[in-house]
Amino acid sequence: MKYPMARITGTGSCLPERRLGNAELARVVETTEDWILSRTGIVERRIAAAGELTSDLATRAARQALEAAGVGAEEMDLILVATTTADHIFPATATVVQHKLGVSERHAPAFDVQAVCAGFMYGLSVAEKYIVSGSCRRVLLIGAEVFSRLIDWTDRSTCILFGDGAGAVVLEAVDSGERGLLSTHIHADGSYLDMLKGPDGVGYLPVPLTGDTPAAAMRRDLGYVEMRGNDVFKHAVKTMGQVAESALAAHGLTAKDLAWLVPHQANIRIIQSIAKRVGIDPERVVVTVDRHGNTSAASIPLALDDAVRGGRIQPGDLVLLDGFGGGFTWGAALLRW
Ligand code: UT7
Repeated sequence: MKYPMARITGTGSCLPERRLGNAELARVVETTEDWILSRTGIVERRIAAAGELTSDLATRAARQALEAAGVGAEEMDLILVATTTADHIFPATATVVQHKLGVSERHAPAFDVQAVCAGFMYGLSVAEKYIVSGSCRRVLLIGAEVFSRLIDWTDRSTCILFGDGAGAVVLEAVDSGERGLLSTHIHADGSYLDMLKGPDGVGYLPVPLTGDTPAAAMRRDLGYVEMRGNDVFKHAVKTMGQVAESALAAHGLTAKDLAWLVPHQANIRIIQSIAKRVGIDPERVVVTVDRHGNTSAASIPLALDDAVRGGRIQPGDLVLLDGFGGGFTWGAALLRW
C-alpha cells in the first residue's frame, strides 16, 4: 500500500423518537413559535427518552454506519465517541459502545473526545492521524449527545436551541491520491469559558470529610448550560469562516470547487453567514437544524448522513465539514467523497 489516507466508507444516524416542536416549547417558556423559527431556523428537535443514554444513540448510529460500509464492528481497530454528555464520568462512553456492539473481547482501543460542538471535527482529526500513521486500518467515529439533559428548561435563551441524537462514520485506510479525507484543521482558544459553558465538573463538589458535608450534601446542583448567545454567534461565524478558508487554501482550492458545505447546525443565521463568507451557493449547504436543532457533537455527522442517504453527496464531490463549539474549539475537514 502507498502512503495511506482515510476515507469515510459508511455513515449512519440515530434520532430519539420524541419530537419537541416550537409550539410545545412556547407553552413552557416565554417565547413564541415565530421567534424561535425566525431567530434560529429550528422547527423541532428530538429528546431522548428516560433511560435512553448517549451510548444507546451512539450504538444505533454506529450499526447503521457499519452496515453502510459493509464491515463488522469486530473489524474496527479503534472506536471514538465525541460527546459532551457521557453516560458516566468514567468509563469512557466509547468503551460502553464497544461492549454494546458486542466486540469487547477484541480489545480494540476505545476512548472519548471532548470538544463540545466541535467534537466530531476533533474526532475526525484523531481518526485521520491513526489511519495516516498506519496504526489503524479502520476507525469507527461517532458523535452522540443527550444535550437536553444539560439544559435549564426555564432558560429561554438556551432551551429552544438544543436537541439529542447521534451520527456515525466508518473510516478506512485507502491509498493516497484516491477519494478520501484531504486534511483536517482544528483549533482552540480557551479564554472564552465565560461565554459558553456547561455544568461544573467534579472539582466543584464539596470537599469530603470536612465535618460539615454529610453524604446527602455531597451531591449538589452543578448548574446548566450558560451561554452569551450573541457573542458566541459572532465568534462562531468568524472562526468557522476562517478555518473553512484556510482548509480550502491549504489545497489551492476555492469555494467554486466545493460541491457541499456541511456546517455545524446551531442556528440557520450562523449557517447563512458562513455560506456567504465562504462564497458558496446556499443551495450547496446541507441544513438539518430545522429538524434536529443543535445536537452538539452529533450535528455534523447527522447532517452528513442526511445528505449521503438523501443522495445529495455523490462520489467525487468535494465536501467541506466545518464545526464550532465551547472552549472555544473549532475545525474544518476537506474530503473528496
Ligand atoms: O453550538 C455552538 C454554540 N452555540 C451557538 O452557536 C449559538 C449561538 N447563538 C445563537 O444562536 C443566538 O444568539 C440565540 C438564538 C441564542 C439568540 O438569538 P439573538 O438573535 O442573538 O438574540 P439575543 O440574545 O441578542 O436576544 C435578543 C432578544 C433579547 O431581548 P431584549 O433584551 O432585546 O428585550 C432576548 O431576551 O431576544 C430575547 N430572547 C428571546 N425572546 C423570545 C432570547 N431568547 C428568546 C426566546 N424567545 N427564546
